[in-house]
Amino acid sequence: MSDNGLFEKLASAAVGLDVNYDLANGQRTKRVYLDSTASSLRLQVVEDTLTKFQPYYSNTHSVLHFGAKLSTSEYKWTHGMVLDFLNANPENHTAFFVGSGTTAGINRVARALREKRPDREVVITSIMEHHSNDLPHRKHFPQVVHVPAEMAKKSIGRIHMDRLKEALEEHGDNVNYVAITGVSNVTGIINPIHEIAELAHAHGALVVVDAAQMAAHLPIQMSGNDNPAHDLDVVIFSGHKIYAPGSPGVVVTRKDLFEGVEPQDVGGGMVDDVYLNRYMIMDAFPDREEAGTPNIPGAIGLAASLYALNRVGMEKVAEEEDAIIRYTIGQLSQIPDVIIYGESDCDACERAGAVSFNVRGVDHAMTAAVLNDYFNIAVRNECFCAHPYVREMITEVLAEESDDLSDEEIERLADLHRGMVRASFGIYNTKADVDLLAEALRDLVEKREHYEGLYERLDSGDYAHKTFKFDHARLFSVKGAVDGWLGDG
Ligand code: ALA
Repeated sequence: MSDNGLFEKLASAAVGLDVNYDLANGQRTKRVYLDSTASSLRLQVVEDTLTKFQPYYSNTHSVLHFGAKLSTSEYKWTHGMVLDFLNANPENHTAFFVGSGTTAGINRVARALREKRPDREVVITSIMEHHSNDLPHRKHFPQVVHVPAEMAKKSIGRIHMDRLKEALEEHGDNVNYVAITGVSNVTGIINPIHEIAELAHAHGALVVVDAAQMAAHLPIQMSGNDNPAHDLDVVIFSGHKIYAPGSPGVVVTRKDLFEGVEPQDVGGGMVDDVYLNRYMIMDAFPDREEAGTPNIPGAIGLAASLYALNRVGMEKVAEEEDAIIRYTIGQLSQIPDVIIYGESDCDACERAGAVSFNVRGVDHAMTAAVLNDYFNIAVRNECFCAHPYVREMITEVLAEESDDLSDEEIERLADLHRGMVRASFGIYNTKADVDLLAEALRDLVEKREHYEGLYERLDSGDYAHKTFKFDHARLFSVKGAVDGWLGDG
């Protein structure tokens, strides 16, 4: 089968792609899922692989029964698959799974690197970060420097490389690492991670890449780059954004960075021996970093997704998705009153996975509610756990559009109207999905007063339809599912 055939096969089958909902206008239509940056749908191949695995599921800490042997062997394979997916050399790299997605991974890395390189007390990050690639550094380090984004052609683009260089020069030997997102979860803008690595390495700093939004959309070459300074020291991502919801987060790191640092979590499965007065942690990676029974199905699901994507080829995935992003920007920019945040010339500033926007004069929460209730289009709104970046983008547009306002007034308005709507994509999205989004937004722009009359604003800032109610339990509840299975007996 050609690469192209494989992509089509993988992309056309995801769990939930064909789910229907009843809408406020009385229609029942197929949902358009544009919220993969929050959580991607599970690919059918992942679902089917997990179903095949479940009968054999056992604890990896048991050793001699058949299920344990199978589970242990496959669980081990998942770690190798992660390294393979990121092109990380298994000789000197390890991959280990951690609790709550990328956030757990970055917290772990921040604490470990603080301990490993205690004299280096500064972390440099950027304005573009999700809180999970900002707050852990603030918690564990005395100083965190936020580098701004550059002005691209007409709007804000990637991290400002000159300002990054200045920050590295200013803080010199004090910089522990540069923590940078590969792809923004707000705008989808792609950062030049290998150039950043080169710059960081030239100043003795490490580079830690938050690949939560990158792993599903672009190939990543962690080690073995032609220029070794381009190699990445640590990469973190999570299965729930790469077609394996239910998967843990994963840290991929040079082993030497975690050597000699006591793992954050201790317990079973990571010790050579335990006495009442002492315990000896094993040296072997990744075992020493994975205390307790791991999330075995989660890891298997993630590895299934990575293996399938590798068979398609991440270059092919990136190419297909680039076409969707360009098409989205092209369509949305033609709608009067739709504001797209960040640089929208994709040649001047590449993007992957997401586009955030607002309809001028319409609250982001209202737009998201109307898209859902009347058009069955699932998007996310608000600040996407990236408050400083969203504030920056909103401020930029306000400043551009209102010459006569003072900086203070712009800041006040930016805080008041903080929030956007985000359309985000996975391999299963098509141009037809984008057409439906554009059509819906045109309708909202044309009939905004009509729609506004149908909703009331809640104290939470969300909008509730005055007459249409969604009763989720009619579709699913845990209790209902269990009662249905047990029957009346
Ligand atoms: N933080 C995730 C997002 O960007 C959930 O949507």
